[in-house]
Amino acid sequence: MLRVAIDGPGGTGKSTIAKAIADRFGLEYIDTGAMYRSMGLKALRTGISPADEEAVAEMLKDTTLDFRDNHMYLDDEDVSGLIRTNEISMAASDISKLPCVRAKADELSKYLAATRDVVMEGRDITTVVIPDAEVKIFMTAAAEIRAERRYKQLLDAGKEADYDQILDEIQKRDYQDSHRSLNPLRQAEDAEYLDTSDLSQEEVIEAVSSIITARTGREPSK
Ligand code: DC
Repeated sequence: MLRVAIDGPGGTGKSTIAKAIADRFGLEYIDTGAMYRSMGLKALRTGISPADEEAVAEMLKDTTLDFRDNHMYLDDEDVSGLIRTNEISMAASDISKLPCVRAKADELSKYLAATRDVVMEGRDITTVVIPDAEVKIFMTAAAEIRAERRYKQLLDAGKEADYDQILDEIQKRDYQDSHRSLNPLRQAEDAEYLDTSDLSQEEVIEAVSSIITARTGREPSK
């Protein structure tokens, strides 16, 4: 069994790295942020405030989530292409404070981690979802560097971007994700700390691969 758990703040490139690692080591990639984003999307669509615990709990009674083949399904609809906006990022962060929302995401995440070899990323994977994972990594980068990367990504995609606004949103979400009372983002004691501020994507993939091999003896299959 090989379960690679990666936590860290938003915008560190966790998902890109996790996908590459899944490919190299023959693991299934699981994006738990997508689960929170889907619940945030459904709340926005149905006009429910992410802060209204009772209404959200009611909404979740007839909500199904699934994550397979890199796609997120909300009530059997593939919402992968709809959940990457700034609005949904903040709604996901807001709604993720609620116990009923965390329980819903944890249930699916724990089931997936118990039934296959995975690389799973989020905010509480090393601390709550798979605390006994074979490999645990806390991946971070300076907020300014993350904002700069995001800014460039948007410009490269031909979109409008405002660096100061991006930095402000990143800092706000960092604060919220690491200060909520239930399962906040924090580094697990036995997680490897990886600061990617000065590393290229390829260097981060190499660093994570080396950690996996050092901790488990398993070599990449590609
Ligand atoms: O990783 P992401 O940016 O897609 O996550 C979106 C939000 O979901 C994040 O701001 C906080 C929440 N989240 C969480 O609370 N726990 C996780 N394991 C993953 C995400």
